[in-house]
Amino acid sequence: MILETLSKIIHPAADKDIVSLGLVEDIKLFDGNGAAVEPTDPQAGEKAVLVRFKLVVPSPDPLLSSIKKECEQAMAAEFPHAKISIIELVRERKPTKKTVNDLDDTQLQGIGKIIAVASGKGGVGKSTVSVNLAVALSLKGYRVGLVDADVYGPSIPKMTGTEGQVPYMDEEKDLIVPLEKWGIKLLSIGHLVAPEQALIWRGPMASNAMKQIVMQVDWGELDYLLIDLPPGTGDIHISMVHDIPLTGAVIVTTPQQVAIADVIKSINMFRHKDVNVPILGLVENMAWFTPAEHPEEKYYIFGKDGGRKMAEELNIPLLGSIPIYMSVEEGGDAGRPAAFSDGPDAAAFAAVADRL
Ligand SMILES: Nc1ncnc2c1ncn2[C@@H]1O[C@H](COP(=O)(O)OP(=O)(O)OP(=O)(O)O)[C@@H](O)[C@H]1O
Ligand SMILES: [Mg+2]
Repeated sequence: MILETLSKIIHPAADKDIVSLGLVEDIKLFDGNGAAVEPTDPQAGEKAVLVRFKLVVPSPDPLLSSIKKECEQAMAAEFPHAKISIIELVRERKPTKKTVNDLDDTQLQGIGKIIAVASGKGGVGKSTVSVNLAVALSLKGYRVGLVDADVYGPSIPKMTGTEGQVPYMDEEKDLIVPLEKWGIKLLSIGHLVAPEQALIWRGPMASNAMKQIVMQVDWGELDYLLIDLPPGTGDIHISMVHDIPLTGAVIVTTPQQVAIADVIKSINMFRHKDVNVPILGLVENMAWFTPAEHPEEKYYIFGKDGGRKMAEELNIPLLGSIPIYMSVEEGGDAGRPAAFSDGPDAAAFAAVADRL
């Protein structure tokens, strides 16, 4: 099969085959009578006396002539009676059609529920909860997507073991194709730009980038899309969440009473008149510590029942409490979320997923 043969030819610079790169166009085969031969005809190798196609590159490419030579050799082996005619063409691709202002929620229409995971405060475990919740939902059989919108400190590439992977852009559709791990569709600012680059972004750039990694993505059909938001509750966040049709928000906190001020800030952000997103509930993270050797003991390092009291005071549901487990931290560092285990750590996340 001609396409199969051509798809074994790798473009050395792109490190991908020429067929998936879309470089091969207009394949035509002719027999001795000048009649067209179907490229899929099993006898094509015998029948064809002329094989013609185009190699089209998006910009002048010094490797084109060596690729053409490779194609000629491969074709000569497959079509021993044929003259091989390959036309080289440079055709500049149209620049991307979409600017941030053109983005709309078309790509989100196949998604059942879009949920932001937020907290007013840094380091409380938003990313940990996002990743493990995504895994827990996926283990329950839902189709899940996860976006790391933390422009200033993306951590999901590390937590999912996808550091250094680069999603590709579907040029035809002008959409980013998300990465996939454990059947979860994944995308992080960290997959798209170097950390030092994102750090210097000012407000509007940061919110535009966030809009793009949610809206300009080929998500397809999903039951849940979780969005791990950067810590904080400022104007940047409001403009970030303003354009995304969120179903609701999950707030992550630690049990300390001092954290309540930050939780209130988060809630107010989602209840801001320009945002107006329902709060689905509170996740109390780092609720207590149980040493592995003494599974019956609980140490309430940050105070007991802080999450429950907070949820009552603010009149929002408590979705669950996640204790401090070494496995949770280690799983994050190793790129394999604790929610995959069959221990109490995974059960805690599964319980939150159920309530959610
Ligand atoms: N339940 C837990 N048990 C043990 N370690 C945890 C738990 N939750 C979070 N951690 C650890 O705490 C640290 C901070 O967690 P994480 O990065 O998820 O917080 P964050 O709120 O996303 O932070 P940031 O504000 O920087 O985005 C990580 O090292 C993580 O592994
Ligand atoms: Mg984080």
